[in-house]
Amino acid sequence: MIKRIKELEKISRLLEPTAHERKEARKKVVTYSEDFLNDIEKINAYNVTPDKGIALHESPISESPITIDKAIKLIEKNVDYPGLNPASGGHLAYIPGGGIYYSALGDYLADIFNRYAGVFYAGPGAVRMENMLIKWMAGIVGYPQNATGNLTSGGSLANLMGVVTARDAKNISSKNISKSVIYLTQQVHHSVDKAIRIAGLKECIIRHVPMDERHKMNSEELEKIIADDKKKNLNPFLVIASAGTTDIGAIDPLEEIGKIAKKNNIWYHIDAAYGGFFVLTDEGKEKLKGIELSDSLTIDPHKGLFLPYGLGVVLVKDAQKLRQSHFYQAQYLQDALFESEEMSPADLSPELTKHFRGLRLWLPLKLMGLKPFRVCLEEKLLLAKYFYSEIKKLGFEVGTEPELSVCTYRWIPKKGNADEFNKKLLDEVVADGRIFISSTLLDGKFTLRFACLSFRTHLKQVDLLLKILKDKVKILEKK
Ligand SMILES: Cc1ncc(COP(=O)(O)O)c(C=O)c1O
Repeated sequence: MIKRIKELEKISRLLEPTAHERKEARKKVVTYSEDFLNDIEKINAYNVTPDKGIALHESPISESPITIDKAIKLIEKNVDYPGLNPASGGHLAYIPGGGIYYSALGDYLADIFNRYAGVFYAGPGAVRMENMLIKWMAGIVGYPQNATGNLTSGGSLANLMGVVTARDAKNISSKNISKSVIYLTQQVHHSVDKAIRIAGLKECIIRHVPMDERHKMNSEELEKIIADDKKKNLNPFLVIASAGTTDIGAIDPLEEIGKIAKKNNIWYHIDAAYGGFFVLTDEGKEKLKGIELSDSLTIDPHKGLFLPYGLGVVLVKDAQKLRQSHFYQAQYLQDALFESEEMSPADLSPELTKHFRGLRLWLPLKLMGLKPFRVCLEEKLLLAKYFYSEIKKLGFEVGTEPELSVCTYRWIPKKGNADEFNKKLLDEVVADGRIFISSTLLDGKFTLRFACLSFRTHLKQVDLLLKILKDKVKILEKK
């Protein structure tokens, strides 16, 4: 047996590269990523390719290794080239991501040391760091310091946890589900609809509250519908507002909704995945007044703090409510069970073992300080206003002035169908590749969107988009 163990050990040890092998691989990875970063302004925001990375299948997972050079080549051609380049400042579609560099170093350290961030007993420092970040975010949105939350993989999971917590806090079960009512607008992000379904709440009554002309929830209507539902002996228990809708960046009347929720004893969840961090700016703070009245909140650092994908946050004002929905004790974890001043993420989320997500947020905030983040958000607000006024000057039809950093617009052609024209215009811009834009259906009309949230988007990229749009419209109008 010893002989066999030793044979196995010899091969197992291949999993631990030598210092020299690490250095070689690291050098190549760093060179590859540095070349990308040094050229980021010249690299397309979108690449249309016929193969879409299909060659990955030609190199299946097998018993034998390949070199780091070959691996990088495969990644470069099949992963990092085709489709959207979310690291580009030319990414002005959907809700742009970011890719703050020091987050990558945070992830690197988190992965090398592999600190266990699920349970305080195992990773006290890691848990303290995550809890400290949660307290910081709770503070900036005006939650009390005894609020809690969880670092999730993104906004969808944060919304799910908010909805699950609301469900349990309001005792929704098979006994009362069909009489229980959820209020939201048609503009709520679809992750909220998914969350309701996954949380087992699809049998609730879902009321789509009418919106005003700016696509914000009409709070007077909300109040009326709730009163009506109460008269019908129904059980209004959850209202979900948006602080920055994905389509157009609209902020629901957060303060009014908060008052209505309180008066009617309804759980108030706000999806601020996109808009939440604008609270760091003076303008955003003013516009997001009332955010602090919510019971739970989604806010995404991988949107508003420009982090690479993989970090959303749910905040819950009453810590015990989040815990009651997610706590579970297993016998084999008995050593970790003791009272401490820090709550463990494993008791506050569906996850037990998890990526140590805190470091990817803590490191950039510490190494750069908050100021450039705040200023960059302010720049995005102004860029959206600038785009709005310039695109209008070019003759495009625009929606209302952007509330945050999303602006909608469309070209009304001299002849032919406007929807078809704008679809063609979008395809032309995407095929060009330098700037990536997206569209939505707004009031039934095909509408183009300008969504500015990448920390790499500056005046240069916005002017380039304006120029591309102007040139493409000219060409398409001639056809
Ligand atoms: C307003 C809003 N909520 C929730 C989400 C979902 O977040 P994620 O994609 O991180 O799961 C998004 C994504 O764009 C969003 O814009």
